[in-house]
Amino acid sequence: MIATVVGARPNFMKMAPIIQELKRRGLEQVFVHTGQHYDKQMSTVFFEELLMPQPDVYLGVGSGSHAEQTARIMIAFEKVCLDHRPELVIVAGDVNSTLACALTAAKLNIPIAHIESGLRSFDRTMPEEINRILTDHLCELLFTTEDSGNTNLNREGISPEKVYFVGNTMIDTLTTHLAKALERCPWERYGLQPANYAVVTLHRPSNVDDPATLKELVEALATLGKTLPVLFPMHPRTAAAGKDLWQSLEGVQIVEPLGYLDFLGLMAKAKVVITDSGGIQEETTVLGVPCVTVRRNTERPVTLTTGTNRLVAPIATEIVKAVQKPFQLTGHRPALWDGQAAKRAVDVIESWIKHCH
Ligand code: UD1
Repeated sequence: MIATVVGARPNFMKMAPIIQELKRRGLEQVFVHTGQHYDKQMSTVFFEELLMPQPDVYLGVGSGSHAEQTARIMIAFEKVCLDHRPELVIVAGDVNSTLACALTAAKLNIPIAHIESGLRSFDRTMPEEINRILTDHLCELLFTTEDSGNTNLNREGISPEKVYFVGNTMIDTLTTHLAKALERCPWERYGLQPANYAVVTLHRPSNVDDPATLKELVEALATLGKTLPVLFPMHPRTAAAGKDLWQSLEGVQIVEPLGYLDFLGLMAKAKVVITDSGGIQEETTVLGVPCVTVRRNTERPVTLTTGTNRLVAPIATEIVKAVQKPFQLTGHRPALWDGQAAKRAVDVIESWIKHCH
């Protein structure tokens, strides 16, 4: 039996095609949701829209400090491992649930596979960077999405025999659902015209937890909103940092976090996307939509070299300049971002299981 794990919003899009492919091949799995994210708009909606099965086990750990959340997940997931005795645990991405479950499995000598392995921002102030590095060093099977991942793992001394460049499972999900997302015309609901609005998501602690940085972001949207309608589905962390800061900005609509299909449809028809998310840099690359990433680094360099991404420091004037400077879009898809990544990963998993028995 294989344990598949999800916990927070970006995990769902990365794991859905893996869970479905394991099921299609009749490989037995116990599907675990840690409950790191729990609201309808942060969790349930993705299960409905991505046609994911209900979790077999829901750990319900909820929010907390890093130590509290990680520890609660470990305690709860250890019981799942002892009850089900999986022969492999599959984790995805870089959230606290990823590391917590990997560490728990490693201590029980259960092999681990990591979807979206090898990404590095080289910025250890990001909680995700710590999660990525530690998870990768605990794994038996490391599935990379871009060539930088292979290079990073090699430099860190991880044996190349464990590393499989399979592509990007989040792009499998995008490929499957794009037509359905566009059919919904979600821009109409917000009174927006295709190719004439910006979509914004900002939620990194380094951006929204620091009042001075937050002020720069508000100023940037205040300027941009005067000439281009802006739609800002607001993450709970950003709302908690001061929802009223944004409420009265001209041309800026603040809305609740969106489901997968509406957000994908809105991104696909945007003039520009402004974000500090990891996955959105990749999705805009495949959609061919300009992306301004409000961060000083990215763990996804292929989105800069092959894709549509541009990095900018969290300074109002710089953000405005980066959005307004014309984009020369290459229109290239990174290697193996072709909708077949989960199949390649599960091929490896299946033969690994056969080899073990
Ligand atoms: C987490 C991930 C981050 C990812 C993001 C996507 C870590 C370290 N960070 O950050 O990599 O980009 O998810 O959303 O794992 N909250 C709710 N409802 C929910 C979940 C959270 O209101 O369903 C609120 C709570 O107040 C909570 C806060 O959001 O304290 C932050 O949630 P948390 O899971 O700790 O981190 P994120 O900022 O969401």
